[in-house]
Amino acid sequence: MSIRLIDRYLDGFVSEKELSEMNGKALLALKTVLDGSGKGSDFLGWRALPDVPDKNEFARILSAAERIRKQCDVLVVIGIGGSYLGARAAIEYCQGLNRNALVKDGPQILFAGKDLSAATVCETLRLIEGKDVCLNVISKSGTTTEPAVAFRIFKEWMEEKYGDGAAERIYVTTDKARGKLKELSDTMGYETFVVPDDVGGRFSVLSPVGLLPIACAGIDVNEMLEGAREAKAKFSQATSVFENDCLKYAAIRNVLLGKGKSTEILASYEPALGSTAEWWKQLYGESEGKGKNGIFPASVTFTTDLHSLGQFIQDGTPRHFETVIDLLDPGYRIEVPYDEKNSDGLNFIALKQLHDVNRTAFAATAMAHTDGGVPNIVLEVSGRSAHDFGMLVYFFELACAVSGYILGVNPFDQPGVEAYKKNMFALLGKPGAEFDALRASLSEKMK
Ligand code: PA5
Repeated sequence: MSIRLIDRYLDGFVSEKELSEMNGKALLALKTVLDGSGKGSDFLGWRALPDVPDKNEFARILSAAERIRKQCDVLVVIGIGGSYLGARAAIEYCQGLNRNALVKDGPQILFAGKDLSAATVCETLRLIEGKDVCLNVISKSGTTTEPAVAFRIFKEWMEEKYGDGAAERIYVTTDKARGKLKELSDTMGYETFVVPDDVGGRFSVLSPVGLLPIACAGIDVNEMLEGAREAKAKFSQATSVFENDCLKYAAIRNVLLGKGKSTEILASYEPALGSTAEWWKQLYGESEGKGKNGIFPASVTFTTDLHSLGQFIQDGTPRHFETVIDLLDPGYRIEVPYDEKNSDGLNFIALKQLHDVNRTAFAATAMAHTDGGVPNIVLEVSGRSAHDFGMLVYFFELACAVSGYILGVNPFDQPGVEAYKKNMFALLGKPGAEFDALRASLSEKMK
């Protein structure tokens, strides 16, 4: 089980000299992360999460997960951004996109509160009709609009179905003391789990935010944390960008940004990694995109997207590079059948493993894209175990923090996400003088 950075497809894009020049900055950035001396240092709690800093909370999570797995047919996880992306990524990474149809022991897992779509809510309500349901509401602030609205709707549904018994089926992950959700939980007697003060949403998958839903899905969270611990031990070594692949990834990204490559496309050849890419986009987008700086994180799933975005990646405006997750073992084996008549002309790949065909598509694409001027970083990952996922999470989190410090930003704040919220609250008529003034000016603009 491992993660390895392969630089074969960076020839001609990133030289050894450029990497050496970035080495000092990368080592300083790593030191800043490890000794907590940089910007946003009050949000470095994620570094300790693999070591399970709160054993008591961890034991409560495991016992709640066991109870939920017996209590319900469907667990609805309500949260947005960092409060759901990591759990969804883990579940799909380890169990696949069709896990709700294929996994027979334990509940189906549905996600709500991640948008304001009436269709999402109504379809989810249809999906839970006649089923036994538990809710896990996750919101650090306890005031985020999307999960709060969804919770209102699902809570009402639960109370209609279970009466007072609803409280035993509602599990809340929020701040230890503050926020409306915490107040409500204390009043109603919901079991609560704590989002640590020093862990931001996008770095919270290894905290109770991710652990409870992931454990409910039947994934071994101990194994996931062990993977994260292994990555932490391996990639925290202050050696050099030539020996530490996590530092190397952070350094290469910044070298490429310096050459005008301002978009990074995370590619994989496994649809089950699509949500991992969504989680990664939030991690890097919110951490680096500030002060008119940063690399725009995008993602694709190949080979599917080779038939839609392949043209642009190969030949469009040359401002991007790719980071390809090369998954060595997808967890399944199937051969392309031999056909006596060869009516489709495919016998040249007959009896090959489909996964080998997929990996050949990867090699072919990497060579074509690099010929087209698109650098490819390759991250080789062993498989789809909880351990692999844990390693990948810590690798990306640490690299993100290091990369953010190389860039000179505070990787742990997100001032930019407040602007739309203020406008939305003003337009929706939220009470308060600040919103009244804003509403007037926005209404003027909308005329
Ligand atoms: O990373 C972040 O901080 C955000 O994506 C939050 O997780 C997201 O906005 C949800 O916030 P909250 O958990 O307070 O509801």
